[in-house]
Amino acid sequence: MENNLKGIILAGGNGSRLAPLTDSLSKQLLPVYDKPMIYYPLSTLMLMGIKDILIITTERDEFLFKNLIGNGEKLGIKISYEVQYEAKGIPDAFILAREFINNSKVVLILGDNIFYGHDLTSQLIDSVKKDSEATIFAYRVKDPSRFGIVNFDKEHIPTFLEEKPKSSKSNFAITGLYIYESNVVEYAKQLKPSKRGELEITDLNNIYLKKNKLNLEILGRGIAWLDTGTFESLQDASLFIKTLEMRQGLKIGCPEEVAWRLNYIDDEELVGITEKYSNNPYGNYLKKILNEKFN
Ligand code: G1P
Repeated sequence: MENNLKGIILAGGNGSRLAPLTDSLSKQLLPVYDKPMIYYPLSTLMLMGIKDILIITTERDEFLFKNLIGNGEKLGIKISYEVQYEAKGIPDAFILAREFINNSKVVLILGDNIFYGHDLTSQLIDSVKKDSEATIFAYRVKDPSRFGIVNFDKEHIPTFLEEKPKSSKSNFAITGLYIYESNVVEYAKQLKPSKRGELEITDLNNIYLKKNKLNLEILGRGIAWLDTGTFESLQDASLFIKTLEMRQGLKIGCPEEVAWRLNYIDDEELVGITEKYSNNPYGNYLKKILNEKFN
């Protein structure tokens, strides 16, 4: 894995579609079954081998994220924070993160996107290794008009991108996971706000498309990309996670487990974490995976 790879989790926005759940709490801290939502994108970045992560939050919620995740030391990684004072759109993340990005390649994941599936991690790691300036990930959905969409040719070369079209000729939504070279900061600065007053990630990706520098990866049907944008999809995501966890006895999106399995933390450090959650199912799970190693 590239040492120079950095990660950003965008956990800003006012979550208005989920009000009143979000009237006093960040959407990305709402529960998805047994964990705060942000644990899922955090685990995804960690599984990609990223150990330097910036979390962008609102001013109101920054301290809550810091209370929950801290500086990342307990997970053997480095977490820093930046406040997005106004919801100015996804590409604003790159302007806010310009010093953090510096000359690095960067992966942005939206804090409300949940990815799960066999071989997903290796597909993501392979995508990072590709020599392209920008990579987007597409996933087939029933209701593409709710998302950014992409059309592509037989070779999977992207031909057209559009943000939330009224009707879409493509069934493929663009997921909230993006990989860019550090030139993304300069391109983000060139964008103008759209009609809804925000910088649009699709406008940013269109810059790369026009330069023939946009790589498209298709996430296949064996992968789950879950969205948490409505009450129904939030509940569905919880049920999906619950169903798999109950069946397998393994957790999805558990950053402590990821840190331990990737040797970011050792056995003793994991034991330290379990003490915080003694006599609680989450702590018992961490103890269980630790004990299984010795049996
Ligand atoms: C945003 C992006 C959209 C993308 C989606 C993925 O939409 O603008 O292109 O498909 O995230 O979750 P939003 O969630 O802000 O409506």
